[in-house]
Amino acid sequence: MWTTARALLAALSALAVLDANPAGAQSLQPAGWDAGMRMAEAVDRNPDPNVVEVDFEARVATVEIAPGLKVDAWTYNGTIPGPMIRVKVGDRLIVHFTNNLPRPSTIHWHGLRVPIDMDGVPGYSQEPVQPGGTFTYDFVVPDAGIYWYHPHVMSAAQVGFGLYGAFLVEDSTETETIGIADDLVLVLSDIDVDDDGALLPADTGGTVGMLFGREGNRVLVNGRRLPELVARSGAPQRWRVVNAAKSRYFKLDLGEGHVFRKIGGDGGLTEYSEDHDFIVLGAGERAGVLVTPTGEPGGEGLVRSLLHDRGYGSIFGRDFESLFTIRFADEPPYDPGPLPRTSREMEAYDLEGATGIDLELTLQKDPYDQTFAYGINHVPFWRAKPILAGLGETQVCNVTNSTAWSHPLHLHGFFFLVLDEAGEPVRPLEWKDTVDIPHERTVRLTVRFDERPGTWIFHCHILDHADGGLLSAVHLGLPPEEFRNLAEH
Ligand code: C2O
Ligand code: CU
Repeated sequence: MWTTARALLAALSALAVLDANPAGAQSLQPAGWDAGMRMAEAVDRNPDPNVVEVDFEARVATVEIAPGLKVDAWTYNGTIPGPMIRVKVGDRLIVHFTNNLPRPSTIHWHGLRVPIDMDGVPGYSQEPVQPGGTFTYDFVVPDAGIYWYHPHVMSAAQVGFGLYGAFLVEDSTETETIGIADDLVLVLSDIDVDDDGALLPADTGGTVGMLFGREGNRVLVNGRRLPELVARSGAPQRWRVVNAAKSRYFKLDLGEGHVFRKIGGDGGLTEYSEDHDFIVLGAGERAGVLVTPTGEPGGEGLVRSLLHDRGYGSIFGRDFESLFTIRFADEPPYDPGPLPRTSREMEAYDLEGATGIDLELTLQKDPYDQTFAYGINHVPFWRAKPILAGLGETQVCNVTNSTAWSHPLHLHGFFFLVLDEAGEPVRPLEWKDTVDIPHERTVRLTVRFDERPGTWIFHCHILDHADGGLLSAVHLGLPPEEFRNLAEH
């Protein structure tokens, strides 16, 4: 009886999914077009159509990142990236997490506005999950968009070893207005391995490695080296791109005569769509784009990441990276017509009465042990005092980067809006949770804190920089004496 009800429910929810796929949006791609790139998806074992309940096991597993190149990576459920989570906006997500790694770990839901005790930061949100231990994450997903997840213990090492995955929050009305069914999630990352596939240590290069931010020596797209996408020339596609690398920036390039119509960012659609020749993503950032790959049927195109100047040593003597190939199917090109434009009602906060905060991203010599450390206002996290904020308070942060390297700054738990960069207003507006603060530049942003009291950290998403001091916290709606030293995080 129970199984029948369950099967029926499953069938019903499958129908609902079919219905949500609008008649105007049918796949234009050949069958199996994305088979070379598709990621594993988390398996929902809850029959309730509005609850997604999944099992996540962090464990060391052998993955093949290129033909013949096997890596004993750190994984969720045995794959890199970990299984993609796919939910509808408003769904409840339950994740039964088991840590079978040799080290403690947690899961942080990057960009999602979750309750503080689901945020995954040891010392603030939860205790670290010890080897053999478990933890249940359980929250409602409030906003559509492309997000991701990763651990928050030894973050640079654990993310670098393979622990990350995509988190897609779908909004069927959005799909309907855009009318493009061919939707691809791209998780860009890298991994540092030798030619036999052995992971290289996470502390290579010592202090210099930390200062620069260690990049893996092999770039991966959805966990693979140079995978292949098959496409019908001229048929529009929607891509949602995640930069899950621990340090690397990506500057996406589709080649001559191609543009990206950027429609979304970190927190769903932007104020209006805009065309770009390149899409630059700092570590942790995301973008939603519409593209129309075109080429000779039977021919091939290449999607590359061009060099991006993220500071000293990031360009000289280096070259572009090949990300993936697009093989054009042997069928007549599709005649697309113009790509759709999108827009979203957005307004900057009324800044009247907002609290002004000055943050300087710094590199200084530690007066105690004479080593170099990153800091915020010259203080690394192990000596930092938090920013205090009241529930509902609006803050305007003037962030100045006085170091020689760019820092993608990430705030947990809240979106913010970027107001200007180097004095130039930034439009279209975009809900951000991670923003690049270029070296020797100033960026002004505004955040409105809601009713979720707690200690919410913010840090550079070049994870070596965060480990190296560039991390602090907002102490929201709590008495100041409840603050614990950040060194315990
Ligand atoms: Cu994506 Cu504190 O991290
Ligand atoms: Cu940084």
